[in-house]
This record gives sequence, structure tokens and C-alpha cells, in this order.
Amino acid sequence: EQIELDVAELEMDGHGTFMHKEMLEQPASVQRMLTGRLDPRFGTARLDGLGIDARELRMFKRVKAIGCGSAYYVGQMGAAMIEDLARIPADAEAASEFRYRNPIIEPDTLYVAVSQSGETADTLFAVREIQRKGGRVVGLVNVVGSSIARECDGGIYLHAGPEISVCSTKALTHMAVGFALLAVTLGRVRDLSHADGTRIVDALQALPGQLQQIVDAEEAIGVVAKELVDADNLFYIGRVRGFPVAREGAQKLKEISYQHAEAYQASELKHGPLALISPQMPTVAIVPDDDLTERNVGALHEIAARGGTIVAITHDTVDFGDLPVTRIDVPRSEVELDPILLTIPLQLLAYHLATALGRDIDRPRNLAKSVTVE
Ligand code: G6P
Repeated sequence: EQIELDVAELEMDGHGTFMHKEMLEQPASVQRMLTGRLDPRFGTARLDGLGIDARELRMFKRVKAIGCGSAYYVGQMGAAMIEDLARIPADAEAASEFRYRNPIIEPDTLYVAVSQSGETADTLFAVREIQRKGGRVVGLVNVVGSSIARECDGGIYLHAGPEISVCSTKALTHMAVGFALLAVTLGRVRDLSHADGTRIVDALQALPGQLQQIVDAEEAIGVVAKELVDADNLFYIGRVRGFPVAREGAQKLKEISYQHAEAYQASELKHGPLALISPQMPTVAIVPDDDLTERNVGALHEIAARGGTIVAITHDTVDFGDLPVTRIDVPRSEVELDPILLTIPLQLLAYHLATALGRDIDRPRNLAKSVTVE
């Protein structure tokens, strides 16, 4: 036991927790993941591991991502990227539900199984169900040689390196980047222009530096976390591309701080949950600078008018006027890829909240790193 602890401390590299180490590794690990996979000349990505050539890639009429927990939420982010860049209908579903509802498997759908461990039983059984019914499924998996990686027809390895902390940080960032690579690839064999492909490739190349800027702002995010430490209930809101970001942020908070966080579409607040807003229920709002900014700010006015306090994960170009908002500014990417960066402060926020509450960061109660049983 003692020896194991010493080894763990050594591997933590002075970080105190694996989660902290893994969050701070992201700029370097994403850089590594992108190495050799971008093709700036043709404004696309190179995904040899998929094992699907351009002609076949063009035939898919739909993309469906499946995964559990954070992997499912990243699947939702990825589906939006695919719809944006490749203009193919795409969605995501919890693998744990998918396999139990006798899913209709279509031959012209590309299924994407998303998993850090590659061993999550629900996701693995979903892969088998797809294959049994003649579907084509590729993996977005971190652990090399894992069951899902082996059983899929091909895939994109995440190359995030080992992730020890139960709650996933770097692996899910890599999943989101993997979807961006897939989306630009699917787009470029269709209607995505060379200019737009190049715009995305350039944005991907800028990600490691931008990730560094966010992790460098850790101290300021820690200060924001202190403001939220007494809240037993929080809302995380976002809309369209921002909604999976909110879901993932709320999940992170629940997993390690044990505070109750509910993710909601900012647009749906007024259809019910607004009744819950009070000074005791703060809101974390995802407000990127995009065509929905004004509407998002409108929703925040409704919250402020009811005494709700607001933390906004946003861009420095967003103007909140006289709204009382604690803002965390994130560097801008291209609009399709913004969710990747907007997610990072939510990891740091959950981490600092849970630390302030004295939680066991790497081993939250009741959870396992990968659920390999039904
Ligand atoms: C468990 C963990 C989650 C994780 C999920 C999927 O439920 O508690 O944090 O997101 O499994 O794990 P996977 O290894 O398939 O990505």
C-alpha cells in the first residue's frame, strides 16, 4: 500500500492530484495528438486509422455518436461539428440507452463509439449490436488495444496518454478534437471549401497555445470557484453548440464536488425552471461570441432580474452591459470549434470547487473510472 502511494505521488509530478496533472497536460497532449494528422495544404485531416477511403466516406448519409457519461456529451459536441462542417445529419445517444431499445441500424450511417477506456460495457455492447445488424462503427478511443478499439472497424486513437483521475479531462478534450478532425475530413470530401477547411486546420493548430492560455488562468478561475462554494444547486446553461458544454460542465461538478448541477438549454429556461432561480441558485452560463449571443444575454437578464447570480464562460468580445456577471474569458477559436475551449474552464472550476470542499478529487465516491459491468 505504502509503495503504491509513493509511486502515485511520483507519477503526479508534484500536482497533488492526477486530475490536476491531467488538466495541465492538455496543451502538450493535444499538440501530440495533432502531430501528423493535419494536412494544411489541402485544408483537411489525415485519418488513416479510419480505414475508410474518400469514396466510401462520401456515401455516409448520417453520423451517430454513442458513448457514456462525458463521452456521450462530447459526442453531442462532435455531432454539431459534423453537421456544421460536413452538413450531414448527426446526433449522439447514450450508449447505455441505445443498446436497450432495439436500435434501427442503417447501412449508410457512420457510427462512432466514443470511449476513453475502450472497456465501458454499455458502449462495447452497443458496438456489437451495430455490427451484428450490419452497421459500420469506428472508435474514438484512448486506450490502445482496448476491447472497443479492437472490435471497431477502424478509428481515431486519442493519444491523450494515461488518464488516472476518475473524472475525465484531457481524454474528453481529445475526443472533441477527434470529432473536429473527423468533421473536417467528412466535410472536405463533400462541400466544405478549401478555404473553410484551411480555416479549421489553422484553428486546430492554434488550439495548444489557446489551451495554455486557459490553464494559465487557473488562479483566477479558482477565485470564481470560491464564490460558488456555498451553492447546493447550480444551473449550467447554454444553447445549441453551448448546450453539450453546459451538460459536460454540470457532470464534472456533480462527479467531484457532489454539488447538484443541472444543465439546461438557455432557451428552455423560461418554459419552467426559471421558477427555481433565486439568490441561492447561481447559474454558470456558456456565452460564446456567436449569432446567439444577444439571445443568451437576454436569458441572463431574466436570471438577474430574479436575483440569480451569474458566472459566464465567454469571449472578451461579448459585452454584458450593466448585467452583474462574473466572467471567465476564453480565447476564441473558429465558431465550430469554440466548444472545445469553452469546456476547459469548467474542468478547472469543478476542480477548485471540489478542492475547497475537501473532496477526494481523483476517486469520487460511488464512481469507477470505467464501468465494465452492466
Ligand atoms: C464512467 C465514468 C465517467 C466516464 C464514463 C465513460 O461512468 O465515471 O467519467 O465519462 O465512464 O467512460 P469511457 O472510458 O467509456 O470514456
